[in-house]
Amino acid sequence: MMIAKTPSDLRHYLGTIKQERIALVPTMGCLHAGHISLIRKAKRLADIVVVSIYVNPLQFGENEDFGQYPRVFEDDAAICKAEGVDCIFHPHNLYTDDGAKITLQVHNLDKPLCGASRMGHFDGVVTVVNILFNVVQPNIAVFGEKDWQQLAIIHRMVSDLHMPIEIVGSEIIREDDGLAMSSRNRYLNKQERALAPKLYNTLQSMQSFASQTHHIENILQHGLAQLEPHPIAVEYLDIRDERSLQSVRRMDENIQPRIFIAAKIGNTRLLDNAPLFPKI
Ligand code: PAJ
Repeated sequence: MMIAKTPSDLRHYLGTIKQERIALVPTMGCLHAGHISLIRKAKRLADIVVVSIYVNPLQFGENEDFGQYPRVFEDDAAICKAEGVDCIFHPHNLYTDDGAKITLQVHNLDKPLCGASRMGHFDGVVTVVNILFNVVQPNIAVFGEKDWQQLAIIHRMVSDLHMPIEIVGSEIIREDDGLAMSSRNRYLNKQERALAPKLYNTLQSMQSFASQTHHIENILQHGLAQLEPHPIAVEYLDIRDERSLQSVRRMDENIQPRIFIAAKIGNTRLLDNAPLFPKI
């Protein structure tokens, strides 16, 4: 397995395997079973798998956890090796630090959901993903549905900017008790960890409630009522169309409604989402 630390190392490596189909799995490291599922999907779809590991400063807000974000490169490299990854791209810095810089900006799709509390976050994401796409020039890139808004925005970036890259979404991997896997779950203490599956339980409870009524406000109220007795600070609980991310207030056949939640347990911000009407 090749470990490339600079764009030119990576280009040099990729120059030797020109003819093959390349899949990129962008990550910030601290790899868990969620990331591994993306790697396995990438391996099924391409000949060469590149995993990028880069904690991207541009997507963290001032009071967020950039400094604290877990960096465990040795463990990550061992996982990649065991999974048969061909190359890890692990740059020290992807930005110039002379003050001048070119970045990308997302419009509208970044306003709702996570965008409301994380100003500039998705600009940071599309900027770094664009850099990674330029450096790796993959045929395919695999992203998790866990970060549904991110995936929707990347789809739009590739289509609006006519990038010849196939974006593949991959299902959410969960712990046995339903908690969506996340690198940030390790911030949870024992009591917080015990409470965390409540987010997914709530989504499931809303799904079964939706099989009895299509009244969106009632479904949302039902969800909030599940969470209310617990020390969980709900940032948003909403039902939106899964492509446009527009709020759904009334059901209609052109809409694919999805439930989105972000909530803080202690200091840890957790995200989850699920279709309102799961396919059986
Ligand atoms: P990171 O949080 O490390 O996630 C990397 C990829 O793993 C993302 O596509 C994310 O959706 C996916 N992922 C995380 N947890 C998952 C789970 N439980 N099940 C399925 N997929 C999961 O997302 C980022 O990094 C960054 O924003 C990045 C795209 C790398 C840009 O910096």
